[in-house]
Amino acid sequence: MTKINFNQAMENIRMSPIVAISEAVRKKSPDFKKQTGKDFIHFQRGEIDFPTPSYIIDAAKKALDEGKTKYPKSGGEDKFKEAILKKLEYHNNAFNLNSENIVCTYGGQEALELSFKLFDGKNGAGFAPCWSCVLENFIPYARVNFTEIPLKKDFSVDLDLLDRVLSEISFFYLNTPHNPTGKVFSKSEIYSIAELCHKKNVYLISDEAYEEILFDGQNHFSPISLEYDNIISAFTLSKTYAMTGWRIGYLVSRNKKITELIRLGNYTQTAGLVTFLQYAGAAAFENKLERDKAVNLMRKEFQDRRDLLYEGLKNIPGIEVEKPQGAFYLFPNFSNFVPKNLADEERKLFVFERLMEKGVATVYGSCFGKYFTDNLRFSFSATSKEQIIEGVDRIKETLQSL
Ligand SMILES: Cc1ncc(COP(=O)(O)O)c(C=O)c1O
Repeated sequence: MTKINFNQAMENIRMSPIVAISEAVRKKSPDFKKQTGKDFIHFQRGEIDFPTPSYIIDAAKKALDEGKTKYPKSGGEDKFKEAILKKLEYHNNAFNLNSENIVCTYGGQEALELSFKLFDGKNGAGFAPCWSCVLENFIPYARVNFTEIPLKKDFSVDLDLLDRVLSEISFFYLNTPHNPTGKVFSKSEIYSIAELCHKKNVYLISDEAYEEILFDGQNHFSPISLEYDNIISAFTLSKTYAMTGWRIGYLVSRNKKITELIRLGNYTQTAGLVTFLQYAGAAAFENKLERDKAVNLMRKEFQDRRDLLYEGLKNIPGIEVEKPQGAFYLFPNFSNFVPKNLADEERKLFVFERLMEKGVATVYGSCFGKYFTDNLRFSFSATSKEQIIEGVDRIKETLQSL
């Protein structure tokens, strides 16, 4: 075979370690069932076990019947953009925007990947822990030199540290509500971060994938509501509407140079987002009654699961756990259970592997960067209450036996 040095940026991309964990679980599950009669408890996935609301599915079918099957308009269909603009006003408090401030994308993923690509070869930063896809995919693909700024132990922000790093970078990646911690950054934290970025001429890439997965009456403050032109907000319908497989998202910036470049990038990669899906996307926002019903139902279920899992873990002596305010993840610390003499490589997998042996799948902390490597991520987006109760029992038993 002809030997060629392919694009180094692509050679450096890694598949998500979470996919590898799911693969390992799939392989182990039959033996585990044979030996114990029990199923694996899946805390590793970011998938959602609710179906897409039927009013959105009906809208997609209707769009197909109406022949919305041609190439999409570059940057996005008018119908979808109009619905997005209204949504940005009533939901994100973001006014004075028009259709040129929006690019419709293949999920939040493409909106973020294109945003990172804008800063090819430059310096960027984000908080640690950080969503694994940023670390494994966007950073190598955009050949970005990325600094992880650790959150404090309780996941609050060290603004002095942030201030120092911002002097050396072109963009800052902020994700709230946050994967993997479930933290919802407060309005004042987000405002301070946005102000600092603005003052230092740093672009703010704001990942708002979980904007509506909020508990205890929390609110999401969207940076795009600020009238700065250094902010790029990435949104998706994946999580709010249980539409992970539809791949619908959009990017918003007040800076038209940015949206123009992103539109070109989007056209180059995919020639735009599937036409009929954009009509379903518009319907998702526009039918307020059905929308609120579906979103409230999911939010309530996620909050109940959060309560069960949080209370269960908190009551196991030795686990240090913060209560998530949003998204559908918990990120407790297990330092008290890791033997002191282990080398780093063994250390980061120690508790993860003990739990796997008991049929409990999680994601180990080093998937989210170089800090918080004694933590594990637990997702409760596709885990029933019964499974959570069983999972907590197994975790307790495992840790007590160490
Ligand atoms: C933090 C975060 N941002 C963005 C996304 C992108 O989601 P999608 O590409 O499905 O819109 C995800 C998906 O898991 C995520 O966890």
